Amino acid sequence: MTAASGVGYEDESMEAYCREGARKAMNLGNRGPLRFTADGKLHPAILDAYRRCGFYVFEDVISAEELAEMEADFFAMVDRFPTEPGALVDPEGRPAIGTDHDAPCIVWSKPLGDPFGGTAVSKSRHPVKMHEPKAAAALPEKIVAGVLGTMQYMDAALRLHAHPDLLRIAAALNGDDFTPLVEAVAIKKPGEGPSIAWHQDGMTHWDSPDWHPEIHGFNFMPQLYRSTAANGVWYLPGSHRLGKLDIKAMVDAAGTERLPDAVPLVCEAGDVCVSNRQIVHGSFANVSPDWRVTFNMGALIRKAVLGASGAGMIREHEVRYDEAMIRERCAWIGYAIDARRRHRPDEEAFVYKPHADSGETFVWDEAAREAIRGYNKRDLII
Ligand SMILES: [Fe+2]
Repeated sequence: MTAASGVGYEDESMEAYCREGARKAMNLGNRGPLRFTADGKLHPAILDAYRRCGFYVFEDVISAEELAEMEADFFAMVDRFPTEPGALVDPEGRPAIGTDHDAPCIVWSKPLGDPFGGTAVSKSRHPVKMHEPKAAAALPEKIVAGVLGTMQYMDAALRLHAHPDLLRIAAALNGDDFTPLVEAVAIKKPGEGPSIAWHQDGMTHWDSPDWHPEIHGFNFMPQLYRSTAANGVWYLPGSHRLGKLDIKAMVDAAGTERLPDAVPLVCEAGDVCVSNRQIVHGSFANVSPDWRVTFNMGALIRKAVLGASGAGMIREHEVRYDEAMIRERCAWIGYAIDARRRHRPDEEAFVYKPHADSGETFVWDEAAREAIRGYNKRDLII
């Protein structure tokens, strides 16, 4: 693997920062193939490295065949993007995705912009505005930086979210009764993909007496293409253990948004990074020639969700999560498992223990597809 494979930096100092960050990232000792113990727990060396660093790169998790399905579905979805914010049709005049329900769908940004830094979005968790390189003049004013509720627009994403290895990791880290959080695809098109300003994902439990380094759960980050220092997420290793941090003070102290101790996520297509939601992370605008497409999929500890109140990016007002809301949102795990089982009948399907215990069964069919339009209004965000 070439550590800093993406080229096309804005300046030489950025190139040096990327090169040095990638070198440090490759020496962290937090990557390798997925390994479980005989009783189904994650291998202790993986757990130790994940808990030390706050992220872990599982190599070669998604098969080439599945990646090809994801790529085809991804670009079919891209073809159906609305032409501009508020538009109801795609460039061919067909109904655009997300226009048949009232849940949020598209995340727009100025090309190479920073849509969240310094704004009140998600409880103002992105306090510092990032540098916005100048984009090509011919580009539209707004481009699509992400899609929320991905499973309803891409069958391959639905099936990916029932990948048995991923769900085994979720059970190992968050308990057999883990819950989903949000599914979203992050899109970093070359020359367009925006910066996501430094932030910590967690929003609800920082001051809780039960706080611990994993209480806000984690995100899976399966990569459709290679993730490089130039287009990938950057992390501040170990910061997930330090509580809520003053990111503005950190940037001020460094005198630059290029935090000196941060490292990039460097990995190949088909690798899956597991990323603690409390780690300080962010990304720079993608001036490299390489696409990054990441299928984010969160997993939470049920005990941390029940009774918590959250809004996130999708609701105007906070709601308090009760047993019924959690049960309703977890139905998606059942639908995804059934969709995957039908598509890959030779693969051993994951058994989600809460459904096995309750006897609930889920059938992925056209009625289910209809019933779940706008499902991400029910996302569990803490
Ligand atoms: Fe994040």
